[in-house]
Amino acid sequence: MNVDIKKIKAAETRNLRQLILRPHQKADELIYEDDEHPDTVHFGAYVQDEICGISSLYKHKLKGIDEIQSWRLRGMATSESCRGKGVGVLLMDECTKHIKNQNGFLFWCNARTTAEGFYEKFGMKRYGDVFTPDGLGEHVVMIKYL
Ligand SMILES: CC(C)(COP(=O)(O)OP(=O)(O)OC[C@H]1O[C@@H](n2cnc3c(N)ncnc32)[C@H](O)[C@@H]1OP(=O)(O)O)[C@@H](O)C(=O)NCCC(=O)NCCS
Repeated sequence: MNVDIKKIKAAETRNLRQLILRPHQKADELIYEDDEHPDTVHFGAYVQDEICGISSLYKHKLKGIDEIQSWRLRGMATSESCRGKGVGVLLMDECTKHIKNQNGFLFWCNARTTAEGFYEKFGMKRYGDVFTPDGLGEHVVMIKYL
């Protein structure tokens, strides 16, 4: 499968955000804080002209770690039709590359516990206890120092 990873606009993430991550939420809830901030970057994975994966990076600190060079991953998803074919790896690699290019140091996310094993493949580790945001299932913070 030929996959292109491109920078995309925040608006272009929203269909997959809703379809895969938050089907119960309305359009305005799919706008995340700082989606339009100049430091924020959104990536889309394309197979031919079809978007089949998304991820977004925000220059946000993690509560409890006073590190200014901290980057948060949000909205990481691949569409069911192209899952398990390495698209997730390509998106994570692009995110890691971007953070390193920005002299970022801490890479973190609030991960669904169902995806914890995916993040562990990139050397991310659990930080703190499991928590359950409204309607989104069990989550855990995962971190990695780059
Ligand atoms: C998690 C997700 C983004 C992974 O994307 P993907 O395109 O399937 O990932 P890849 O095909 O690149 O898989 C890379 C590796 O991670 C593994 N993997 C994928 N999803 C996994 C999961 N949920 N748990 C454990 N391992 C996982 C794959 O088996 C593969 O392992 P391998 O290299 O040993 O073969 C995708 O499954 C998804 O969108 N899930 C639903 C939404 C979701 O949970 N997003 C994360 C929110 S925190």
